[in-house]
Amino acid sequence: MKPSHPLASLIENNKRWSDKRRAADPEFFTRLTRLQAPEYLWIGCADSRVPANEIVDLDPGELFVHRNVANVVVHTDLNCLSVLQYAVDVLKVKHVMVVGHYGCGGVAAALNNLKLGLINNWLRHVQDVSQKHAARLGAVRQGSPRVDRLCELNVIEQVANVCQTTVMESAWERGQDVTVHGWIYGLNNGLVRDLEIDIAHHEIIDSARDKAVNAVFAQDAMQA
Ligand code: CO
Repeated sequence: MKPSHPLASLIENNKRWSDKRRAADPEFFTRLTRLQAPEYLWIGCADSRVPANEIVDLDPGELFVHRNVANVVVHTDLNCLSVLQYAVDVLKVKHVMVVGHYGCGGVAAALNNLKLGLINNWLRHVQDVSQKHAARLGAVRQGSPRVDRLCELNVIEQVANVCQTTVMESAWERGQDVTVHGWIYGLNNGLVRDLEIDIAHHEIIDSARDKAVNAVFAQDAMQA
């Protein structure tokens, strides 16, 4: 690649990174080519400010990742479902984290009904979440507080969606040890917040969801 190529600096970065990794651990890449055995599946937003591995300080090989706009899990999305199935059935991950983030542009667009074209069809799923909780969400102060509450609710509902897939149902039916969690990341401080929804078997989906949703709205009452 010529130095004038617009991507030359990225290729340079890559070479430096590869050299650095090998200098620190000569077997690093050889080990990775033989095996990937991550314990975690991260389902997160595609937002460039939410780099999965970096946030939880994990190396290549340690985190299986699926990202899309607004970290949505739809029961007809073969892409997301295939990632989930491979992670659970083949890699046997122990934990699936749905990770939203505050200030999510997709969630804000859904809430404010922005007309952005094709992506509105995708964000319709977030609008479903918003409508489901419209009564309580409407009582939250407009602007970023309401967007942030919807970011949290969206994580909780997507956790429930993960749990209701055939993949999770079958895994739990055969007694596999795998738990689904809901997290939200703060762009302003780089910190992950646990939304305290942890589901390890089918029977508790509804109760865990209701409890987490109540906690979302309870924090507003505390702040008011
Ligand atoms: Co986002």
